[in-house]
Amino acid sequence: MSLRYLTAGESHGPALTAILEGLPAGLALDETIIAADLARRQTAAGAGGRMAIEKDRAAILAGVMEGQTTGAPLAVQITNLDHANWKGREVPAYTIPRPGHADLAAAIKYGYDDIRPSLERASARETAARVAVGAACRALLSNFGIRVGGYVVAVGGKTASLSGIGFEDRIARARESAVQCPDPAAAQEIELLIEAARAEGQTLGGIIEIAAQGVPPGLGSHVNWDRRLDARLAQAVLGVPAMKGVEIGDAFNNTAVQGTRAHDAIYPGQHGLERRGNACGGIEGGISNGNTVWLRAAMKPIPTTLQGQESVDLATGLASHSRYERSDVCPVPRAVIVLEAVVAIVLADALIEKLGGDSIAEMTPRFATLKRATFEGARMSGKPHLFWP
Ligand SMILES: Cc1cc2nc3c(=O)[nH]c(=O)nc-3n(C[C@H](O)[C@H](O)[C@H](O)COP(=O)(O)O)c2cc1C
Repeated sequence: MSLRYLTAGESHGPALTAILEGLPAGLALDETIIAADLARRQTAAGAGGRMAIEKDRAAILAGVMEGQTTGAPLAVQITNLDHANWKGREVPAYTIPRPGHADLAAAIKYGYDDIRPSLERASARETAARVAVGAACRALLSNFGIRVGGYVVAVGGKTASLSGIGFEDRIARARESAVQCPDPAAAQEIELLIEAARAEGQTLGGIIEIAAQGVPPGLGSHVNWDRRLDARLAQAVLGVPAMKGVEIGDAFNNTAVQGTRAHDAIYPGQHGLERRGNACGGIEGGISNGNTVWLRAAMKPIPTTLQGQESVDLATGLASHSRYERSDVCPVPRAVIVLEAVVAIVLADALIEKLGGDSIAEMTPRFATLKRATFEGARMSGKPHLFWP
């Protein structure tokens, strides 16, 4: 692993903090680059009241001087504006676990007598810190022409029609939509579904697609399980709260077709080796193949529902219903930027691993070589070999 990061901070604590180690020196980075991504996590439809309170801004505390990374760990801090409303306040014990949240499992694991500590850390407020780390990684990727974008494919069973629309257009259209969906008709219906769920005290889940364009061949490796790019992406995606499934490329559709139709045929094209499709999601054998890397994530309906769920009050042992605390209705649109961030972190890590180098200046010529690794890079002698003589 070339890049590593940790986050700390509670939902209503003073601040969220993240430290990212491994960024090369010489990358242009400032707080406005991070602010743009943080704003996207806050503004999409389906959010709850908290987003009206927070105006996220990440302060860069270390690792950047005169607008450029130094190669030292990057430290960022996002102040929780809501903290002022909670500081010194006597908060009643929270003893009724919400099915689907970390409440019960964490209370058993850590022996809490109040669910608050796990609720505070399991809250997806933490994903703001990941978005800040992701923004720095996106800056690195975009320096090499790699663009990570995403959009909502489905919410509450309503699926967008996207056939014939390329990734670039899907991403651009999604930015115009309050629910981050590139299909305007589906977007309209999704908005109505979210409002109906809000009125009923319900929540909704959905499917998000992420595409990384301009990824060079050769990121990740087949040689060990933990170096596979697909496996690393899957872990990062499932590491985001409420993500319960991940699909690389057309994985699930491919289960219904025969082998010769499932794969992306190779032919000698004008620009070297070309492919008939990209059902594999730009990754074969755990290695990027030069095509767009794309995946889908399934997000469950979030567990804090205005309409309570059947539960037990752990203080009395009696049957009860889960309580509501200010919450989103459908954070699927807001989760797009979170998934873009975690995908960008994995790709930046794999890129640094592939190129080596401590500075952008060292990485740049190596990247140019990697981009040329198409047909010429794969040409073989065709002579027989005797392995294991
Ligand atoms: C961007 C985003 C916002 C979320 N907002 C909420 C929320 O307001 N209320 C809630 O109950 N869960 C919310 N979640 C999901 C919970 O954090 C998650 O379900 C919980 O931590 C339990 O983890 P698990 O679902 O992965 O098992 C959100 C998730 C994301 C990615």
